Amino acid sequence: MPTSEHPGSAARTAVVWEALRPVLERGPCDVLDLGGGTGGSAVRVAERGHRVTVVDPSPDALASLGRRARDAGVEVTATQGDVSTLRTVPGPDGADVVLCHGVLEVVEDPAEALATIREVLRPGGQLSLLVGQRLGAVVARALAGHFQQARDLLAGDTPVGSGRSGRRFTLPELELLLTTAGFEVASVRGVRVFADLVPGALHDVEPGGSAALVELEHAVADRPEFWPLATQLHLLAR
Ligand SMILES: C[S@@+](CC[C@H](N)C(=O)[O-])C[C@H]1O[C@@H](n2cnc3c(N)ncnc32)[C@H](O)[C@@H]1O
Repeated sequence: MPTSEHPGSAARTAVVWEALRPVLERGPCDVLDLGGGTGGSAVRVAERGHRVTVVDPSPDALASLGRRARDAGVEVTATQGDVSTLRTVPGPDGADVVLCHGVLEVVEDPAEALATIREVLRPGGQLSLLVGQRLGAVVARALAGHFQQARDLLAGDTPVGSGRSGRRFTLPELELLLTTAGFEVASVRGVRVFADLVPGALHDVEPGGSAALVELEHAVADRPEFWPLATQLHLLAR
């Protein structure tokens, strides 16, 4: 991990990649990154020898993705589009893995998005879903002294566009959405359980503090009793 990386994003990267490693180790496959943005995940996946297509509505994000892929010396197919155009993305007939990271929060209809992803996944394919978790956000707001915001979040009162990160979900809501769309949940991990609760000034109080925080995040990611505190949840579903 580069030392300049914020422990929050380092924890996110570490926990999500630990979950994805066995999925991506099965040999080269077709990976579709829905809302892949500037390609942080897509380029990393392409570096491991997979064929990656990013679908994103933002031309600016896709331009950054192109630069990032060139700098890394890998090929990533960039397609401007969104959930509604996913079925028409040119390329191989379906995907072995779909990444949907930080996207369910902002799409118009999360249930429709998951149903569409289900359609483009090949039989036996896997969905990697990373979403903001509502309970963790309630705790974080309350600890920061924003009690009214915490209450609004508790009530699920977070319409899309009302904040930087859009809608947030609880685990039961996600499980219901996934099973309704025809998925079976294979694994759940809590992402950024402590990283966003600890004030930045305390991250390096001890030598190696940031790295130790990431190790702590690893240690609690698959412990359900900590999931309600997590800023995000990562689920694998098939
Ligand atoms: C929070 S960013 C996440 C980027 C990336 N997946 C990541 O994990 O860093 C959300 C992305 O979703 C894209 N997006 C917004 N609306 C979308 C839609 N309806 N369908 C697909 N992507 C969408 C945005 O352009 C943006 O790149």
